[in-house]
Amino acid sequence: MNVESHTSRYSPEFDQPVRGDTITADRYITKEWMELEEKNLWPKVWHLGAVLAEFEEPGDIVRHNFGKESVFMVMQEDRSIKAFYNTCPHRGNRLVLGDVASVPKIVCGYHGWGFDYDGTLTSVQDPDDFEGGNPCGKVKLTEVRCDTWGPFVWWCMDDDVKPLHEWLDPYPERLKNYGLENWVRVINLSAEADFNWKIIRDNFNESYHLPTIHPELATFINDGLPTTLFEMYPSGHNAMWMIGHQATTRADYHSAEVPAPLDDIARAWGIEPEDYNGRTGDIRQAVIDAKRKLGPERGYTNYPDMTDQQLVDYFHCTMFPNVTLTMSPEQCQILRTEPHPTDPEKCIFQHWCLYPPVEGMKEVETPIGPAPLKHDAKQYHTRYGDGETLGFVADQDLSIGTSQQQGLNSRGFKGCILPKQEKRVQRFHELLNDMVLGEPTPKAPPIGE
Ligand code: FES
Ligand SMILES: [Fe+2]
Repeated sequence: MNVESHTSRYSPEFDQPVRGDTITADRYITKEWMELEEKNLWPKVWHLGAVLAEFEEPGDIVRHNFGKESVFMVMQEDRSIKAFYNTCPHRGNRLVLGDVASVPKIVCGYHGWGFDYDGTLTSVQDPDDFEGGNPCGKVKLTEVRCDTWGPFVWWCMDDDVKPLHEWLDPYPERLKNYGLENWVRVINLSAEADFNWKIIRDNFNESYHLPTIHPELATFINDGLPTTLFEMYPSGHNAMWMIGHQATTRADYHSAEVPAPLDDIARAWGIEPEDYNGRTGDIRQAVIDAKRKLGPERGYTNYPDMTDQQLVDYFHCTMFPNVTLTMSPEQCQILRTEPHPTDPEKCIFQHWCLYPPVEGMKEVETPIGPAPLKHDAKQYHTRYGDGETLGFVADQDLSIGTSQQQGLNSRGFKGCILPKQEKRVQRFHELLNDMVLGEPTPKAPPIGE
């Protein structure tokens, strides 16, 4: 088989124009950009706050600190979830100080004001000492919008942003066959890192870095062009379909022996890899057939609803502006970055992995090794670089963050020069320019000028 020419492929149905705005360094570095994002970007999008499994009974709380803001979600008596800004209406003290809590009543730690789960003030010290009488029943916590999709809880600060399911378009439809609703979050990791939140967003908006940063993926994920399909949606979100269970077409693996770990993956589905030496690209179809035949009896109740593509390929969904959700039938990986509260050259990185409940399965293989198939089996917060892994592939992605941040600070950096396959990076920044600055940056000059 010949090595194919490497030109990028965009879905004609889901392509979007770009203007060619210069991607300037200031957006990664300056307080001005950070403050404009705080004002013009973050209130205007939905934020992934929690998974539903964190709420077992009324009064269960999950806090989400985001930049300088803090929001908490609380299960109501009717088991719906509401979200509130994490601030006391008395004199502004933060109400919820831990990541999770389960309380009979929401009580402020300063002067002891107490609130029902629906945010209504129900008890104060010296209630008769207020102008106009007892404030209980009249004062409420400031609510933020809250909704759920699949196993996830989301919140949004702005009433004018589209309802969640519309805002997520087209993911709810495109992902419905995976049956995500009852998947279990097994991995819940986070880290503070020394680069702007957009550095890793850019990285997830392209696959150009795979051969250099993740060389070991080459033998079972086909990142070649034009095989990889890029999609950009009117909503601002985008996606990439990457062929799985097949070696890259950037090199000629296909006429050789079946490389590891594709051989073991094939064996796990009852396929003899030796039968595919010299035609290793055909293993993908053999895995589709095996999954169709054996999947349901192995407990994968979600397989019958899926397309062939969903059964074996990787669907990377990059939600504007800061969440990436990567789907395979056996794993949902969420990678996101959030701004640091005060420093534009730092961010908070988060990595969740969810797995489908499969009857009889006690353990799953995760990006940080085997783990029990149960809620938050592995959970920690760290500083990137302190030695704790954030997942093998994620560690590789993060490894370039600090040096890129440093390089962007140089007077010698004049703005990005992108190949066509990085058009999603270009569009991401143009959407940011529109929202954050309210106008495009000057058009980038032609290459070489
Ligand atoms: S600040 Fe909350 S009760 Fe005073
Ligand atoms: Fe990567």
